[in-house]
Amino acid sequence: MTKKIVTLAGDGIGPEIMDAGLKVLEAVAKKTGFDYEIDAQPFGGAAIDVFGEPLPAKTLNAAKNADAVLLAAIGAPKYENAKIRPEQGLLAIRKELGLFANIRPIRVHPALSHLSPLKVDKVKGIDFVIVRELTGGIYFGEPRVLEAEHAVDTNVYSADEIRRIATYAFELARTRRRKVTSVDKQNVLATSKLWRNVVEDVHKNYPDVTLEHQLVDSCAMILITDPKRFDVIVTENLFGDILSDEASVLPGSLGLMPSASHGARKGSAGGGNPSLYEPIHGSAPDIAGKGIANPLAMILSVAMMLGQSFGDLTAQKLIESATDSVLTSGILTPDLGGNASTEEVTGAVVQWLMSKE
Ligand SMILES: NC(=O)c1ccc[n+]([C@@H]2O[C@H](COP(=O)([O-])OP(=O)(O)OC[C@H]3O[C@@H](n4cnc5c(N)ncnc54)[C@H](O)[C@@H]3O)[C@@H](O)[C@H]2O)c1
Repeated sequence: MTKKIVTLAGDGIGPEIMDAGLKVLEAVAKKTGFDYEIDAQPFGGAAIDVFGEPLPAKTLNAAKNADAVLLAAIGAPKYENAKIRPEQGLLAIRKELGLFANIRPIRVHPALSHLSPLKVDKVKGIDFVIVRELTGGIYFGEPRVLEAEHAVDTNVYSADEIRRIATYAFELARTRRRKVTSVDKQNVLATSKLWRNVVEDVHKNYPDVTLEHQLVDSCAMILITDPKRFDVIVTENLFGDILSDEASVLPGSLGLMPSASHGARKGSAGGGNPSLYEPIHGSAPDIAGKGIANPLAMILSVAMMLGQSFGDLTAQKLIESATDSVLTSGILTPDLGGNASTEEVTGAVVQWLMSKE
């Protein structure tokens, strides 16, 4: 059956890298016979300009009815102090699609380990995944108060919210090196005490997976001193936001890093919604329109979509091998120290794919 993919190109370099991702999708689909149609929808600043809001109802409707959503990037300097901002669309679509699990793989390509701010021997072989709870915690808790001399944010978690993200992390660890590091601040926070209790409870169903707990401050240090010890890190929304940005500098460029966000599976009890795939970087206004954006994070997001939403692990692996090969051969955009354009890197990935039997 034809799979419906909604694309949200957004702002800045968004349309350039979306174009690259779709070229690679087309090439791999020719190889594997993957049958799909694209429904491009306005989102972010591009949607504010036309519809006055970053997530118009028609975009949300299309996303809810899709089999998967691909997002490039949103945001532009002109909205910085605006009342309606592109970023509001991002929070809204995550909440509307119930995307509670944000997955960020952190890998360092051997040919690029010299780009990391850490010493080569510390980063060579890094391969871990951060699983961040995305729809609960302090970003959504009420009450929220801002007065001249007084402000309140509220951190709220239910055991169910913790249970489903912990289950996701243990299941993922089973497909990897079978180790989960759960991050909290249980020496201070009540929500973290509940977090730890629930994670330990869920662990009882996964005796084949090793569980360790880290306080968030300690985890932040280990990410720099010994990042290779991690396999799957699971944590709440705020800690995950900070730790995943810290981890994202390890590979040396934001332009290499894809992500996935999942809710309840489509077709599961209670309905379910499509997953959303996007690079972790923003709209890079400083290089927008120059044709030099690194398309690989977007291309690798397409690979994650094929594997995780459509179960096509062959297509995912093909794209990952193609990007590995292009990086090894030194066809690099300026963020990686090269001088290739977005189009040249994309062309090299497509050419590699087309050359495979
Ligand atoms: N998910 C999203 O869409 C998302 C995420 C983060 C920031 N933003 C928005 O993006 C805008 C710019 O934010 P920022 O500058 O802090 O972050 P950014 O990620 O856009 O850029 C940070 C730096 O990394 C570079 N960079 C990022 N992606 C690149 C790529 N693919 N290839 C080469 N270089 C790349 C940029 O040129 C810039 O120097 C803001 O409006 C921000 O709110 C959006």
